[in-house]
Amino acid sequence: MKTVLITGCSSGFGLETARYFLERDWNVIATMRMPREDVLPRSAHLRVLALDVTDARSIREAVDAAGSIDVLVNNAGVGLLSAFEGTSMETVRQVFETNTFGTLAMTHALLPQFTQRRSGAIINVGSAVTLKSFPLLSIYTASKAAIMAFTESLALELEAFDVRVGLIIPGRAPETRFGENVQRLLPNGIPQAYQAFAQAAFATIEQAGDVTHSLDVAQAVWRFATDTACPARLPAGADAVAIAESR
Ligand SMILES: NC(=O)c1ccc[n+]([C@@H]2O[C@H](COP(=O)([O-])OP(=O)(O)OC[C@H]3O[C@@H](n4cnc5c(N)ncnc54)[C@H](OP(=O)(O)O)[C@@H]3O)[C@@H](O)[C@H]2O)c1
Repeated sequence: MKTVLITGCSSGFGLETARYFLERDWNVIATMRMPREDVLPRSAHLRVLALDVTDARSIREAVDAAGSIDVLVNNAGVGLLSAFEGTSMETVRQVFETNTFGTLAMTHALLPQFTQRRSGAIINVGSAVTLKSFPLLSIYTASKAAIMAFTESLALELEAFDVRVGLIIPGRAPETRFGENVQRLLPNGIPQAYQAFAQAAFATIEQAGDVTHSLDVAQAVWRFATDTACPARLPAGADAVAIAESR
């Protein structure tokens, strides 16, 4: 039986992906900053571990406790909706610490077991904003664009070890906690001078018809994990698929 370790399982895509793999009889190591067993169904195949991807000690302890892993899903992430001018460098670094360095650090911690075993898959969660840009998301987009570039180069580097590296590219998913989280880091990130423009930009985004559902992401992760012929870049969600096709 194979084992998947997923970061950021307390809500949204991570939680749905953990459920999806459990229902398909995988061993699931669902990691969360604040572990909660009750968000997932009881199962002998489930372990919930504490993991903050910005904390080196937390990563070390979780990886030691996890043991042998077949698939790593780097899903944990934070959003930031702000005008760049109103965003401090401290906030910029916080976003990169989670979305970018967190993904790199988790990959670094688990990679040796994959290359030694000459098997395994690393699946990073990117974002469709790296395919089609939106205003007021410059820092978030930059943090995910770095992951897209990292994923593509690493995939080539690990081919010789039979370790697969893929990128899931979700579109906008209003059903997750992401929307409330984008305000958490910087509640007043849009200065007055940008307000009128920002309101018009939000209205355009809200009017867009198609969205991404957590299940779309879980299915895309499953596909990459289980189908070795699957492409390395997988848009997830009707909006992300449309954006990818329009490029
Ligand atoms: N929703 C969208 O529109 C959208 C679109 C494209 C891509 N994405 C990406 O998809 C991923 C999942 O987002 P989501 O929509 O499911 O949002 P979500 O419901 O807010 O889930 C994000 C998860 O990441 C966790 N997390 C945040 N910081 C962490 C840290 N330092 N260490 C470990 N876990 C941490 C959160 O845990 P806590 O409960 O502890 O905060 C939460 O479980 C993210 O990488 C996001 O950037 C989202």
